[in-house]
Amino acid sequence: MAVDRELAEYMTKTGRSRALHEEALAVMPGGNSRTTTFFDPYPFYVQRGLGAHIWDADGVDRVDFNGNYTSLVLGHAPAEVLKAVEQVAQSGLSFPGPTEHEIRLAEALTRRVASMESVRFTNSGTEATMNAVRLARGFTGRPKIAKFEGAYHGTHDWVMVSVTPDPKAAGSRKHPKPVAWSAGLPPAVLKHTLVLPWNDIEACEEIITKEAPNLAAVLVDPLLGIGGVIPPAEGFLERLRALTEQHGIVLIFDEVISLRVAWGGAQERFGVRPDLTTLGKIIGGGLPIGAFGGRRDIMDFYDPRGGGDPRRGGDPQRSGARIPHGGTFNANPLTMVAGLATLNALTPEAYSRLDALGERLRGGVTRLLAATRRRGQVTGLGSLFCLHWTSEPVTDYRSSRPRDLDMPMRVFLGLLNEGILLTQRGLGACSLAMIDEDVDRFVNALARVLARQ
Ligand SMILES: Cc1ncc(COP(=O)(O)O)c(C=O)c1O
Repeated sequence: MAVDRELAEYMTKTGRSRALHEEALAVMPGGNSRTTTFFDPYPFYVQRGLGAHIWDADGVDRVDFNGNYTSLVLGHAPAEVLKAVEQVAQSGLSFPGPTEHEIRLAEALTRRVASMESVRFTNSGTEATMNAVRLARGFTGRPKIAKFEGAYHGTHDWVMVSVTPDPKAAGSRKHPKPVAWSAGLPPAVLKHTLVLPWNDIEACEEIITKEAPNLAAVLVDPLLGIGGVIPPAEGFLERLRALTEQHGIVLIFDEVISLRVAWGGAQERFGVRPDLTTLGKIIGGGLPIGAFGGRRDIMDFYDPRGGGDPRRGGDPQRSGARIPHGGTFNANPLTMVAGLATLNALTPEAYSRLDALGERLRGGVTRLLAATRRRGQVTGLGSLFCLHWTSEPVTDYRSSRPRDLDMPMRVFLGLLNEGILLTQRGLGACSLAMIDEDVDRFVNALARVLARQ
């Protein structure tokens, strides 16, 4: 089925969303405030969510495999999180000072994530990676950073490079050229960002070794999450660890998504300990959050004590922090308790259940694609998965690009019409609110969508 026919069906079902989008056009560019969730001609507006389900403004019920881009690991509106938030909200929404709640969430995170000896909170994963990169530069005194082609780390300047580059403009596979992902990036960003090919350790080694004296950090999403949930090849992360250690480069694991794959994150699952880790999404229990943390000697750059202490002759107007880090809503109490309630529910047994749901889904999709002789595959780990419309082995950004660039959108719209919500590029996540039947419903819906192609 052409994308037009799926779109036509989508539009017949979403009249209220179309009307709302027309209102939004008057007050927001393109009617939009979140590029990720937009698709032409208009996105559906959400009315509510409960458990594994999400309802749009026209009242259409869908099973939600998007989960606000993998963050809603317990599903929508989980009772224990709502209860915690409601209770704390009664005492005030945010304050000009710390609360005990942030200590409890910080304790929970440092207990789980091996590399996090010390942690700070932000309001988004974007701010977490922004601070981690700044910290690596401050700590090493070096100017450059390296990131992987196809990796997404949020929307600050330093990471808006080579996120979805056209391979024709991006140089060779082994030596990718940095490509701006946004207008408005200063030339210094491209000059100071190295782009690495995922899963090609020899090429990475060559690039990193050559630039080591100038290289502050290697920033790694251990699963290349938004880039297609492409797990690292055997030994790949270990070699990156050895190489960065050898050259005094800060290794940052961006586990904003990959904390989903084990109680202690991808670093536990793969047995590799980075210097710094960034987190987000699931640790906020559905409310805005980010966090970064790691080695105490590195995190000490944020220690504000001393500088302004008048007892030591300090200037009270100055903080002792070598990196100041304000944020009106950092560690706000509502997010802290929502995050803690969510982490408390994410026991090792809960992770086993999530893994089983993910495996069932990947198994079902793989069997479907084989039985129907479709060019395609599903990658993933734990509760995360991604559909790829290529038969080439998917090992990196370039091999994950489909020959038919419209295919992911056709499948996304087709699934929407079948009562299933995914992400436009085919990334999805199971939640603890799901049961096996929800996963089977996904596979059956995909079968019907493919039969129409
Ligand atoms: C790996 C990774 N890092 C950072 C971010 C940015 O997080 P946020 O959307 O909270 O700014 C994302 C968001 O999808 C992500 O997947």
